[in-house]
Amino acid sequence: MNKSVSFTAVIPAAGIGQRMACDYPKQYLPINGQAMLSHSVRLFLEHPAIERVVVALNCQDQWFSGLEIANHSKISTVIGGEQRVDSVLAALDVIESNQWVLVHDAARPCLVKDDLDKLITLAKNNQCAILASPVRDTMKRAVSGIIDHTVDRNELWHAMTPQSFPCGKLRQVLREALIAGVNVTDEASAMEWAGEAVHLVTARQDNLKVTHPEDLALAEFILARQKR
Ligand code: CTP
Ligand code: MG
Repeated sequence: MNKSVSFTAVIPAAGIGQRMACDYPKQYLPINGQAMLSHSVRLFLEHPAIERVVVALNCQDQWFSGLEIANHSKISTVIGGEQRVDSVLAALDVIESNQWVLVHDAARPCLVKDDLDKLITLAKNNQCAILASPVRDTMKRAVSGIIDHTVDRNELWHAMTPQSFPCGKLRQVLREALIAGVNVTDEASAMEWAGEAVHLVTARQDNLKVTHPEDLALAEFILARQKR
């Protein structure tokens, strides 16, 4: 195990939250008295193994500077881009290549330390990994709204964040994948394309991504339960 690995968290927070249909970006919605983004970043700020937290903000952001975390000594910001991958790349550009990065969506406020620690342990063993949860429902493939067949769910996982990779490698692979026209919806999708081994780490199901309005109450409930 390599104990001298250094970690930087990358928080893409430059989205506009279109599906949330609120007046301002969803990462600033209050959950139990704090902005969603503050919840998502807190674990990384408190974690002794994490040296820095780089947050990618929208070029029109007018809310971040008002958060208490904005002045935290571990935090720095960059301007994100049009797609999530562009925001992640903008952050990777200011991080030393030999760091390991933990990329975590601003829209996932319910991450717990135990799950984060699983990724850190794997990284210390030089293993790329993402949090994920096995699919529970019976899965169907459909053609024009009619079921074609049932897909074997044993092979299916929900991909979550954080996702953990060496910074230099991830930066290179993301750039190459974009040039090749790969649809890079998460970091792992580019690494898979490049043939890199990426481990799936079973995480708590409640590490949900707040996407639609109805997800907000669920996140409030989960965070309130965690606090108790
Ligand atoms: N994100 C980003 N830069 C973008 C788009 C998204 O940093 N150009 C971030 C979001 O802020 C979010 C994370 O990526 O923390 C996951 O994206 P998603 O849940 O899709 O958020 P939005 O893109 O903001 O929402 P929507 O797709 O509904 O517009
Ligand atoms: Mg989006």
